[in-house]
Amino acid sequence: MKTLAENTLNINPRLLAPHAPPPAFNPPRMNRKALIEEAKSRVADFHRVSKLGLLKTDGEFYPSVHYPPITMYPPMTDDELLEGYTLPSDGALDVYAHIPFCNSHCVFCHYPVKTGLQIEEKNRYLGAFEKEMDIWCNRLGVDRIKARSILVGGGTPTFLTVDQLERFFDIFCERVDLSICRQFNYDVDPNTLIGPEGAKRLQIMRDHGVDRLTLGIQSLNPMVLKKMGRHHGREESLEAIRDTLAAGFQVNIEFIFGHPGQTIDNWLDVIEEACQLGVHEIQQYRLKIEAYGDHQAAVKNMVEIKPEQAPSNEEQFIMKQASILMLKHYGYTENLRRVFSRVRGDYSVYAHNQCCVQFDQIGIGLTAFSSLRDRFALPTQNFEEYYAMIESGHLPINRGYRRTAEDQARWAIILPIKNRDVRPSNFRRLTGVGLDEVFKAKIAALQEHGIVTFTDRALGVTPLGAFFADEVAQQFHHPDFIPYPRSCYAEGPLNPYLNNEVF
Ligand SMILES: C[S@@+](CC[C@H](N)C(=O)[O-])C[C@H]1O[C@@H](n2cnc3c(N)ncnc32)[C@H](O)[C@@H]1O
Ligand code: SF4
Repeated sequence: MKTLAENTLNINPRLLAPHAPPPAFNPPRMNRKALIEEAKSRVADFHRVSKLGLLKTDGEFYPSVHYPPITMYPPMTDDELLEGYTLPSDGALDVYAHIPFCNSHCVFCHYPVKTGLQIEEKNRYLGAFEKEMDIWCNRLGVDRIKARSILVGGGTPTFLTVDQLERFFDIFCERVDLSICRQFNYDVDPNTLIGPEGAKRLQIMRDHGVDRLTLGIQSLNPMVLKKMGRHHGREESLEAIRDTLAAGFQVNIEFIFGHPGQTIDNWLDVIEEACQLGVHEIQQYRLKIEAYGDHQAAVKNMVEIKPEQAPSNEEQFIMKQASILMLKHYGYTENLRRVFSRVRGDYSVYAHNQCCVQFDQIGIGLTAFSSLRDRFALPTQNFEEYYAMIESGHLPINRGYRRTAEDQARWAIILPIKNRDVRPSNFRRLTGVGLDEVFKAKIAALQEHGIVTFTDRALGVTPLGAFFADEVAQQFHHPDFIPYPRSCYAEGPLNPYLNNEVF
């Protein structure tokens, strides 16, 4: 018999089926000293590839997320975004929805969010969000948006009252066709999932087809959590992880390394504990101190005032390599970049579709970008401007870029090489040209220095290339979009400004 959700919402039944936990794996504990010694080899790699010009000489990094980087877009309107656009042949899109509210602003966070309870503001936002969805349906010529996958992010999209969360799903599911949706992911924080209210939120999400949760845990060390300005403690995190696994979600937990207060040892304690929690996925981000969007996080000030509290770049390389080895020991291997799972198929379908296959996707809400074939658009980051644009009947887009054929070839390499590998057939679908016809000198140089591999199956990265994946992706940037000036890189054969022609 069909459930209520299947009957009324026509949700793909696979979203409603509970996820089994990943296979248990309890190896003996690792010898910490030997692990750290092994991880130190990455410091030597850093010095070597830095001399070749691959990395910024001081080891600072710039996350390669979009191409071109989002701060570099000129103005764009919704008419320009949608001019001549037709839906993909199956009519499906990956859908992102953004809820920009949080309890308080975390020290490391570069995202523009409103903090505090903000009950009225959230109601206002949900009203505008509903209208924006109607504008999208109208502009795309559909009654409902057919979702290939869904990600709801923020902010903290569960930092809504239970009634508001219900309202969000009413608005969203009325306008989104979930019948073929492969995965419905919701980003959550531990505090909003525990206790009786948390149980209600988990039930509401399950009833509407949410099948994967991403929990921002960041650390399990109480002192580090305090320094990060997180509003949850270690116990709340552990309770939320237990509850979400018990409720049948695919559970992904996220951590940051390189933050003030962290040491190689206390970071490895956290990862070792994380490996024993029985979650499906563990994700680790290296702390980015400089803003890569429009808002600068407080952590920059913290590091400037007390630099001795932050791990050095060399220590961060050791932290990253040691945790990769530790994750592997506990059965977690990297599937999409920086996402580690025991089962190969446990990852974010939305991220995979965005970064590896590069399907069309739309973003709804403040700051939620859209990527449609050869164009990319960003909405305003300002709440009042967001409300005003929607009231005037427009999508809240104010910046964007329509890629030339050359940009498209760069984009079709940069995102997949950063996140997994570039498949020749996909590259041809996106660009109309063969992968073996582009960047010949660049690829040869990267191959010669053991950074990439190139076979009939894929242009991929070696383990060394995977470790420095952001910088490998930036090798394919146009000189105008390379994150740092030429003088920041050594004049070696892998200086990103060399061999930069596409054809
Ligand atoms: C889109 S953010 C939203 C996270 C969610 N609101 C939370 O804090 O739990 C997704 C992830 O990016 C990572 N992240 C956020 N700010 C970062 C920074 N400055 N440097 C590195 N990683 C960061 C965190 O691990 C975070 O969980
Ligand atoms: S890190 Fe997450 S919870 Fe913290 S302020 Fe940023 S978006 Fe909100």
